[in-house]
Amino acid sequence: MTRFVVVTFGCQMNEHDSERMAEVLRDAGYERTDRPSAADIVIVNTCSVRDKAEQKLLSELGRLSKLKRTRPDLALVVAGCVAQQHGKRLLARVPALDLVVGPDHIAELPELLRQIELGGPPQAHTGFDLDEPRFLSARPGRAGAAPSAYVTVMKGCNERCSFCIVPHTRGPERYRPSREIVDEVARLVSAGTREITLLGQTVNSYVDPGAGQLGAASAEPASGWRHHPPSQARRDQSQFAELLRLIAREVPGLWRLRYASPHPRYLTAPLIVAHAELPVLARHVHLPVQSGSDRVLRRMIRRHSVAEYLERTDALRAAVADLSLSTDIIVGFPGETRADFQKTLRLVERVGFTGLFGFKYSPRPCTPALRLGDDVAEEEKSARLAELFGLVESLRQKHLGQCVGTTQLVLVEGRGRNGRYTGRTERNEIVHFDADEPLAGQIVPVTIVRAFKNSLDAELPGSPRRGQSTPRHALPVLPC
Ligand code: SAH
Ligand code: F3S
Repeated sequence: MTRFVVVTFGCQMNEHDSERMAEVLRDAGYERTDRPSAADIVIVNTCSVRDKAEQKLLSELGRLSKLKRTRPDLALVVAGCVAQQHGKRLLARVPALDLVVGPDHIAELPELLRQIELGGPPQAHTGFDLDEPRFLSARPGRAGAAPSAYVTVMKGCNERCSFCIVPHTRGPERYRPSREIVDEVARLVSAGTREITLLGQTVNSYVDPGAGQLGAASAEPASGWRHHPPSQARRDQSQFAELLRLIAREVPGLWRLRYASPHPRYLTAPLIVAHAELPVLARHVHLPVQSGSDRVLRRMIRRHSVAEYLERTDALRAAVADLSLSTDIIVGFPGETRADFQKTLRLVERVGFTGLFGFKYSPRPCTPALRLGDDVAEEEKSARLAELFGLVESLRQKHLGQCVGTTQLVLVEGRGRNGRYTGRTERNEIVHFDADEPLAGQIVPVTIVRAFKNSLDAELPGSPRRGQSTPRHALPVLPC
């Protein structure tokens, strides 16, 4: 049987796409392997958000080209954002490549591979599916569904932040009908999934293209703005909160609902109310802010101010007790002064983020920020990043320390190499604990006994101790 491997770089969206590729190929009779050396087809699913990721891909392709010299039958495929960005040019640059496929062509993989197997020439397929957007559903395998799964609700991005290549590589926003989303969530939950993370580049700008699924309050206007709602309407028309309510209502067996990544602009009042009213929503939100300086935010075209970010996150915290927040920050954006960076540190401290992805600004092709130059020296970017990480480290330590002695509900993901169970709390803290019984896929209450550097050490008590913080919605310990 022909064997394939998928090597994944980048974000959750890419991880999700890689699984869909594996599913369509398995359906077509191909067999998955973990090792490129054992594969007949190597698919590299790529990321181009930062230059470093693209360079990593090019060195990977160098290695694979060498392998192909010893095994000429090996088929080499590049998928994902770099495929979309370079298209045909990638075939010219890496002669060993057989296929370049953008994110909207996953369903065609088996057919395209068959053409290669029959001796067809190298091909590039990178158009966007603007007229009939396709969203491939996850299909739980025979072994059942994973405790935690992703479900895509939209693709593309209309924001055009000045530093970001994603609108170029993933195209304009296209939304999935809410009926399809709810059905996929329900299928996964009935197969054993406990936690769903809804995915989209600006997931909370979601608008339902299906007629009237979300109820009378959001009755659809004419289908003319299916993919490009007029910007005036769009600001007020996000139907994400209603989508969350629909999922909560129609899939009562779901234990936890998360989403990634929201944009601060669409952290609307209805979404905040949904957080207060839907116990299924996890008490953690990853809300990228990018900078704590209004001047830099303007140059980044983020379309919100520091004050607006604070106002919305404060409201969210007022609505949901103990909610934790994490974020993305770029340091060394063109023109970012030391004073701007100090404002970012102050914002990070003020919000008290418990997690943070920090990046040095990386100039990307096809982005407006290219015109601003890249004037912060590499050493200065590194120093700012180190300072930022140092601050978040201390905030995280403080936060994890405060968890000691409390009882938390943990969704158990499985055992690590050391035999200990690992899981996540509602607030996304990573917890390790020992237990003899099979617990993977269950939600169990644990008592936190110690804070590690990035995670928590816990014990499985007979029952939660009295007088300590009780979970907001106590779930029974259910079997798989
Ligand atoms: N909306 C997407 C964000 C995609 S990019 C989401 O689902 O999260 C992820 C993060 O990479 C961004 O939030 C930003 O912090 C960082 N990033 C994007 N472009 C960058 C660039 N040119 N240089 C450095 N970091 C960048
Ligand atoms: Fe990129 Fe900004 Fe969209 S970071 S994905 S252009 S919200």
